[in-house]
Amino acid sequence: MSSELEFTRLRHLRETADIRRNNAETSLSVSELAYPIFVTLGSGIQRPIDAMPGQFQMSVDVAVKQVEAAHKTGIDKVLLFGLPQHKDSVGSSAKDAGEAVQAATRQLKRELPDVTVITDVCLCEYTDHGHCGIVTPDGEVDNDATLPLLAAAAVSHAEAGADIVAPSAMMDGQVAAIRADLNESGFEKTRLMGYSAKYASSFYGPFREAAGSAPQFGDRRSYQMSSTQSDEAMLEIEADIAEGADYIMVKPALAYLDIIRRASERFPEPPLAAYNVSGEYSAIKAAAANGWLDERGAAMEALIAIKRAGADLIITYFAPDAAHWLDQ
Ligand code: PBG
Repeated sequence: MSSELEFTRLRHLRETADIRRNNAETSLSVSELAYPIFVTLGSGIQRPIDAMPGQFQMSVDVAVKQVEAAHKTGIDKVLLFGLPQHKDSVGSSAKDAGEAVQAATRQLKRELPDVTVITDVCLCEYTDHGHCGIVTPDGEVDNDATLPLLAAAAVSHAEAGADIVAPSAMMDGQVAAIRADLNESGFEKTRLMGYSAKYASSFYGPFREAAGSAPQFGDRRSYQMSSTQSDEAMLEIEADIAEGADYIMVKPALAYLDIIRRASERFPEPPLAAYNVSGEYSAIKAAAANGWLDERGAAMEALIAIKRAGADLIITYFAPDAAHWLDQ
């Protein structure tokens, strides 16, 4: 017997499409995707977001139609961001029952009760300075003074019918503060998704145009994590779990696949979300628009990578397209 015949033949399992499918170690399903959208008050509004081709700022009526269309392709989770009517130094409109997120939540739960509504809980869209918390006279973001405001916003989302509230401000203790106020207000059942390990990232650039939430001075490095950190991400996640988070998150996704992997191994429960953020979306969109890469191929490869790293849920602007691609 010649020695070549003893070679391992890994190519055998790549030979045909059906073998490749059957042998696939990682799979992606539409039930693992959540679709982030930007809502505003008014009617008939559908303003394209330049930096995020294919994404829009939408009034509630348009948003509900958009989610209804996505739901027909199997999307059953949305994440809401709001563009408020007015901003001030303490983000008071964040807790306003008449604001866009609350109005969209009420209408979505009325018209599409099977769609899980997740709301982003933060102040940056609602403050005139664009920071995620209250700013002291000497320009610092005041952690503890911010907590009751985040909790009040979360309670207003729960009152509107939100299934899951998702605090993204990166204030210490935000999960515990929100959980306590939800329970006190009779919303023991409202679930909580912590943006547990959220990094200060240049990949949020397009989002800040979409949500009008760029900080007017300084940056978010005193509250969001540095990209140098990995152990610290584990501490952030551990803290969120201890404070009562039902879901944990790593954000962004693609530059932090190692963090997703580490978190999924260290914390098999609760479910781990990964946020495929605006810059990750727009980079693929821009390259595809130039003919430099294939959009569908690149997007699906990125989503599979996030899943393979260990995410249970992927928040992605590609959600409706991915649902369509997965169906083909
Ligand atoms: C706000 C928030 C941000 C994102 C989600 N929630 C922006 C930020 O922290 O600056 C980014 C989402 C994206 O880039 O797609 N707290």
